[in-house]
Formats: sequence, C-alpha cells, structure tokens
Amino acid sequence: MTAGARVYADWNATTPPLDEVVDAVARAAREAWANPSSTHADGRRARAHVEDAREAVAALAGVDARDVVLTSGATEANNLALRSAFARERGVLVTSRLEHPSVARVAEALEREGRARVRWLRIDPRGTVDLADLEAALAEGDVRLVAVQAVSHETGVIQPARDAVFLAHRAGALAHVDCAQAFGRVEDTALEADTRSLAGHKLRGPKGIGALVARPGLGLVPVLVGGAQERGLRPGTLDASLAAGLGVAARRARAGPARYAAIAPLRDALERAIVGRLGAARVLGAAPRAPHASAIVFPGWPGPELVAALDLEGVSVSSGSACSAGTAEPSAAIAAMVGADLAASALRISLGEETSAADVERIASALFAVVERVSTGTP
Ligand SMILES: Cc1ncc(COP(=O)(O)O)c(C=O)c1O
Repeated sequence: MTAGARVYADWNATTPPLDEVVDAVARAAREAWANPSSTHADGRRARAHVEDAREAVAALAGVDARDVVLTSGATEANNLALRSAFARERGVLVTSRLEHPSVARVAEALEREGRARVRWLRIDPRGTVDLADLEAALAEGDVRLVAVQAVSHETGVIQPARDAVFLAHRAGALAHVDCAQAFGRVEDTALEADTRSLAGHKLRGPKGIGALVARPGLGLVPVLVGGAQERGLRPGTLDASLAAGLGVAARRARAGPARYAAIAPLRDALERAIVGRLGAARVLGAAPRAPHASAIVFPGWPGPELVAALDLEGVSVSSGSACSAGTAEPSAAIAAMVGADLAASALRISLGEETSAADVERIASALFAVVERVSTGTP
C-alpha cells in the first residue's frame, strides 16, 4: 500500500482504517453522539451502534453477543482476562516471553502483587511456545491460567493455540488467547478458549476500541471500578462512533483470512529477494506463519537504524513491536527466540491487503540501497 509516495509495511503495528469505517465513525460522531447508557431516544440511537458492534464482533468470534465485552482495545482486554483469573484465587500463570507486553507486563505485575506465580514457557526454535514444556508446567500443578497468543505480533508465527487450550482445559486450568493479530487474518484456532482479545485497529477498524470475548459464566472481575457499563465489567462511557467503525470492520473481517492468504506470494517473494541478495539475512520463525508478516535479522545492523534509513527512503517498517519502537531495547519476544544480540538487528516487515507487487519491489530496492550505500561508504 502506498501512502502518497510512501510504502506502508507495518500492518502489524496498525492497519489503515477502511474508508467505510472512517465514514461510519464520522456519521455516528455527528448523529449518535449521545451517551449510549441514556434511556431517551438520543441515547438509544448511540446504543444501537454499540450493540451493532457487539453483534459484529460476536459473529466474527463465533459466540453470542452477550459474550462480548467492549474495551478500549486488546491491551485492556488482556489486562481484564489475566487480572480476572487471579482476582479471587491465586495460583500459577503459565505464559511465555513471546507475548505482547499487555500480557507479559501484567503477568509480572500479578507476580509482584503476590497473586500469581509465573511459569515462563520454553520457546521452540520455530518461534512457538513449546507444548512439551506446557505439559510439564501443567503437571507441576496449581495452574490457574494458561495465556498464549494466536499469532505472534513480531514474527507472524501461528502459535499452537488450539493445543494449548486443550491441554490447559484437560488439566483443569483456564485458557486465554490474545487474538489481536489473528482476527480477520487467519482462521480462528482458539474457539475453545475461555477468553480471547481483539483490537479494532488491527482489522482496519478504529483505534481505541476492541473487545474481550469471554465464555459465559466465567465470572470476570472488572479492572476499573465505576459505572454499570458493559455489565459493570468495563465502566466508562463508550464512544458510539468508534463502535460504529468497529461494527463495519468486524463484519468485513469475516472474509479477512482469504484476503490475507493472497498476500503470501508477495511476502515470500520479498523474503527470497532479500535473503538471495543479502546472504547474512535470516528470516525468523518457521511455518505455519500468518501470510503477511516477516521478521528478518540483519546481523551487525542495528534494527532501529535500518528502520530510520528505510523511513528516509519512504518505506515504513518496524524494528520490533510498535510499543518498543523508539527505545533501544530489542523486542523481548524476538530476544526469547534468538537472543538479545541478534534481536537487536531485527526488522519487522508486515504487509497488508493493499500491498502490491510494486510496493514489495520498492521495499526490497530501498533495503538494498540502504545496506549497499553503507557497505560502500557512500553517504
Ligand atoms: C498481539 C497483540 N496483543 C495486544 C496488542 C495491544 O492492542 P491495542 O493496541 O489494541 O491495545 C497488540 C498491539 O500491538 C498486539 O499485537
């Protein structure tokens, strides 16, 4: 996808909102600005957008609308799922360093607060959590929650979420799956999970809205305390205009996996071109991977410098998760796979539905220009 003369290849950080989404948000902001909790006609008009978004997310997740709690995004959904699991009972939380910070940091906080003991899973060289180690962790006993992601935000590697959920349930534990990078991109492998997280902006919806999909009867406990919105699970006035956008995006996302599958040949061609010309470059993570994402290490090259140089060439990519971009810290998830030194030279290129073959050529030629300019000392 070309933004002006630029190429946007950072779809894992966020996706460009669809025109229909922007239109729906703008229309609702003008016409449905009332408080969705108000019982008068104006409030009901706003409420209709909220309930429509809930229905659309429920259809995407294959659940009843009552099982959808709207949140500000996947960060809040992950916090709600993890904190809920340890609100009434203590125990072991099994998770891994592959997780997004909105899971990993919560796990660390729960441990600091004395609510959970965290058992970090081994990472398989292919970039997945190690299921044998999960079985071992479950056998150690007292596991209350297993939290894994469906698709890695860094490498695109599809995690064995279905197996992890099965093993957790067999051992009597709860299972949470962070599906922020999966909804609308790959087929859902976490249908049986007790809780699943979704972010509107990863599926071409607006930022600032997402959802926790939760099995009925789970007894979620709110993180925030306040009003009765979202059945008291997520107090605070919801923005009906963001909900309107989420509804449009979530409906369209049902056909997303087919659209994303068509990106794989472009991604594969890009990887072949890069590895073919820059012999030391190495693609991280083995199949199965989501079709659009590549994490590539360029030994000896600081990832953030490559990102900055590519930016000057008009190409937007990332050196790790967006949250860690701008800091010198390499991505913890990539470091867990290949060690901190190699992780410091990682580049994440994530394509999207609108990426063209010409865009991929631009990315490759910009990368070659940067690397070869520096190698030959040309400014
Ligand atoms: C796997 C994963 N989980 C959670 C999040 C957080 O989502 P949000 O930005 O909606 O809070 C992200 C966003 O980068 C993500 O990639």
